[in-house]
Amino acid sequence: MAGEGRGSGAAEGTTLFSPYKMGKFSLSHRVVLAPMTRCRALNGIPTAMMAEYYSQRSTPGGLLISEGTSIDPTGPGFPQVPGIYSEEQVDAWRKVVDAVHAKGSFIFCQLWHVGRASHNVYQPGGAAPISSTSKPVSKRGRILMPDGTWAPYPTPRQLQTSEIPLVVDSYRKAAVNAIRAGFDGIEIHGAHGYLIDQFLKDGINYRTDNYGGNLENRCRFLTEVVQAVVSAIGANRLGVRISPAIDHLDAIDSDPLKLGLAVVERLNSLQRQAGSKLAYLHVTQPRYTAYGQAESGRPGSEEEEAELMRTLRTSYDGTFMASGAYTRELGMAAVGSGDADLVSYGRLFVSNPDLVARFKVNAALNKYNRRSFYTHDAVGYTDYPFMEGGGAEEGGGPLMARL
Ligand SMILES: Cc1cc2nc3c(=O)[nH]c(=O)nc-3n(C[C@H](O)[C@H](O)[C@H](O)COP(=O)(O)O)c2cc1C
Repeated sequence: MAGEGRGSGAAEGTTLFSPYKMGKFSLSHRVVLAPMTRCRALNGIPTAMMAEYYSQRSTPGGLLISEGTSIDPTGPGFPQVPGIYSEEQVDAWRKVVDAVHAKGSFIFCQLWHVGRASHNVYQPGGAAPISSTSKPVSKRGRILMPDGTWAPYPTPRQLQTSEIPLVVDSYRKAAVNAIRAGFDGIEIHGAHGYLIDQFLKDGINYRTDNYGGNLENRCRFLTEVVQAVVSAIGANRLGVRISPAIDHLDAIDSDPLKLGLAVVERLNSLQRQAGSKLAYLHVTQPRYTAYGQAESGRPGSEEEEAELMRTLRTSYDGTFMASGAYTRELGMAAVGSGDADLVSYGRLFVSNPDLVARFKVNAALNKYNRRSFYTHDAVGYTDYPFMEGGGAEEGGGPLMARL
């Protein structure tokens, strides 16, 4: 079984269906469920419908990553997203995890804090969202409100230096809670313009303390979060997600490659200190946009993007997971060439609960309907048909609205 190389190239004939040894986890294939916010957690508590959703996407020896899950009450920035900071949430997640384990799959919990990408309506006491900065997301950005409308982002409150250790500790506690709920591991969401990315990117972070300015300082918050989580649950149950070249929510960096490499160097060094590798590094490629519109600013060329992914892959000493508009063919090519060990699929997994089985036989795929990405009921969530259900035809069925 192949496993954990420093981009040394895949073994001859590696496909999405070749087994993979991710540290202590023996995966039977390389098609991972990408973390996706789906807004079905009632008042922040996971539900039976969520257990069904994740169970539908489970395969023996497969790996699922949960939707972004708030580390504390200041974490959310979408309606009905789950948390992992109260006992009620831990107990409710346990049922979801049990349903996934019953199918033989592994599941990691994605730990999320949106930082300034929130709104006073989601904050305790109607307070301003917290961030590395007091600058709001630009007027171009819009936040989904509890009533389904979209509003401008409010002005955040810049965290004082003395408050930062408290937020770091929230990640640690959330990681411990996730393990208590039965998750096999956790993923730190350091991507897509949310809190950690708000520290990493020089287009947002103008702090003058130890957490801002130069690259070393901008990486400090993420590094401290990783260290805290490693010390609490061990390195081999921890994945880290970054997106140095994605400018979603104005998370622009002047040198994405340099930033990505700086993060990788720090992860490599933390692994050496811990005497154990992390579970994986998960990198999102910019060619993806969640909302179907061009992101702002700097669309790198295809070659630049591929080069960034390849450089991070070869520099990181461990399992590399790629994400972002992968098709079956692109996934096959990535693992076949050794450009990635694992590939995470988002939107295709939304509409194809049996995506792994479909990929195996190269079956047609259900189309996803982005209008039900963030709604709150079973429609467009647990009702996408399986192959046996007769829904395997391209575009078939009333739910399969075109994009
Ligand atoms: C509805 C939706 C919700 C998402 N929520 C999250 C999230 O909570 N955390 C995260 O890291 N990425 C999130 N993403 C990004 C996905 O994990 C994935 O990287 C992205 O969709 C690109 O992969 P795809 O082209 O296979 O869909 C989301 C994407 C979609 C479409």
